[in-house]
Amino acid sequence: MIRQELPEPSDVLIKHVPGHGYDRATADSGRQELVETFSHLVIGVSDLDRSEAFYRDILGLDLLGRNLTAEERPHSVLRLNAGHLFILVESEDAEPARPGSQATHHAFALTPNQFRRAKERLEAHGYPTADFRQQFRALGEYCIDVTDPDGHHYQIEADGPEASRIVLPGAGVVDCGAASDYEVGAVRPFKEGNFFLVRLAEGFLAMTRWCTHMNGTPVYQPEHHRFWCPQHSRCFDRHGEQIGPLIDAPPLRLNAVKISGDGRVLVDTDVVIERERFHPGQAVRPSGGSGGGKHG
Ligand code: FES
Repeated sequence: MIRQELPEPSDVLIKHVPGHGYDRATADSGRQELVETFSHLVIGVSDLDRSEAFYRDILGLDLLGRNLTAEERPHSVLRLNAGHLFILVESEDAEPARPGSQATHHAFALTPNQFRRAKERLEAHGYPTADFRQQFRALGEYCIDVTDPDGHHYQIEADGPEASRIVLPGAGVVDCGAASDYEVGAVRPFKEGNFFLVRLAEGFLAMTRWCTHMNGTPVYQPEHHRFWCPQHSRCFDRHGEQIGPLIDAPPLRLNAVKISGDGRVLVDTDVVIERERFHPGQAVRPSGGSGGGKHG
């Protein structure tokens, strides 16, 4: 598990927020039926003073004032930096959220520096800030779960610059054994070098395990012949190209592959190759041409 406490300082809001797949709208932006953004969010609260203090002083929203809309009940209007309004309506039947429920929640996207300040504010007010789902985060992805005084559940999210950085495992050149031991279609993980060695009909590819979406860590699913990243569910085929509906990441990066004079596959994990798509020339053939492996 990756332990990460705070994002590296930055005022940049990384584009791949929100990270759970909704950014597919970017790829489909020509479609007329898509909604551009949201205007305002209204939630019921049982005590306006208490909730106003929470959203203004702890979450850091900008308080515009009270009773500014046509709503008849007492309400407070707050605003996010992006201009979206957040309206708290005092209501006797404000339904508290089910404690601990993940089902209904909202997420705020912050820059790394805003996130660092929000964490300080939360801790100063005695709120726990540990990320209890850290094992599901990609490298550079940060989240704090918090509930308001009525039990509404929020996620405070930020993506640090480290989310898109190339990470080297420090393993140097890894000897992956004899090329002739790999059947066409074989995929073998190498933990030490954090890569998968894939034997295609065209030759060998060594694919780094860091996901090109946000530095998550994909696993190979042999039953589907694909790599699946548990962080935000991107899938990649055995060429490393992304497949499925959430397409927005470039192919998985490659490490350099060499076949030694005695027919062994050597992967240099210090050399990382980025690419826009797969082409057969990227695969390194075993000596003697493409027929060096057994077909399985
Ligand atoms: S890090 Fe987001 S899908 Fe892999």
